[in-house]
Amino acid sequence: MSELVIDNLKSHRSYRNFTGQPVTDETLAKIVSTAQHAPTSQYLQAYSLIEVTDPVIRQAIAKITTRATVATQGRLLVVLADQHRNVQLAATPIAKRALTELDRFMGSVEDATLMTEAMVMVTESLGLGSVVLGSINNDTQAVIDLLKLPALTLPVFGFQIGYPATQPEIKPRLGLDAMLFKNQYAEPSDYQTELTKFDTRLHDYYQQRGDNARDEHLADMTREALGTAAKRRDFLKIARRQGFLPEIDD
Ligand SMILES: Cc1cc2nc3c(=O)[nH]c(=O)nc-3n(C[C@H](O)[C@H](O)[C@H](O)COP(=O)(O)O)c2cc1C
Repeated sequence: MSELVIDNLKSHRSYRNFTGQPVTDETLAKIVSTAQHAPTSQYLQAYSLIEVTDPVIRQAIAKITTRATVATQGRLLVVLADQHRNVQLAATPIAKRALTELDRFMGSVEDATLMTEAMVMVTESLGLGSVVLGSINNDTQAVIDLLKLPALTLPVFGFQIGYPATQPEIKPRLGLDAMLFKNQYAEPSDYQTELTKFDTRLHDYYQQRGDNARDEHLADMTREALGTAAKRRDFLKIARRQGFLPEIDD
């Protein structure tokens, strides 16, 4: 038995600054082809990846994700939820339509998500680093236009891979008492103590980290949700323009 996967996962951190050492095509292919072995809903493999090499498009995506290094550092992928391919394969109009409804819309986003986490793990196991960029959907329509995405595809994540230029500290996670329950949802008997315990660890982490150290508390972290909620209000409308969720009209 090996603890390698456990060690890798427990030393995970998102990397946002990369050296100039190139990630070879062979390494990229290894990361992607290994991550493809992640579970996939109904075995539909309802995702695709687009590598962005065009500097103009990379610059535009850097702007959308508000991360300057996205323009130039490492390699940049966009992970798509993709039922476009499966619809070509579907034999009947009813099956074609089923692939576009909420169930398979979610299936494609879930597939893209699991695939992306698998890429994170493989990347780190090879001594590289990565960051998942949900901020690609700060302007979903612009990404669709830039990448000429066909019907029944949507961007889910940007994914930047490279050799880490810096080694960020590991961010703490909630204690099991706050999130692992038995048989039914059960808030810890002393919720406040649990959260305070975590808040202290989180606060220490933010104060002690080498880069961008700051005074941060758990209660402050949810403020990010305000910004992203505002930016994602059009997402459903755009998903429907891409051909997903026709049942909303039924
Ligand atoms: C769905 C998702 C979207 C994310 N989007 C971004 C993003 O747009 N920009 C970014 O810098 N980090 C992004 N991250 C990385 C998170 O900020 C990071 O995972 C979290 O702060 C925990 O830190 P760690 O990964 O270093 O443990 C995203 C992570 C996930 C899972």
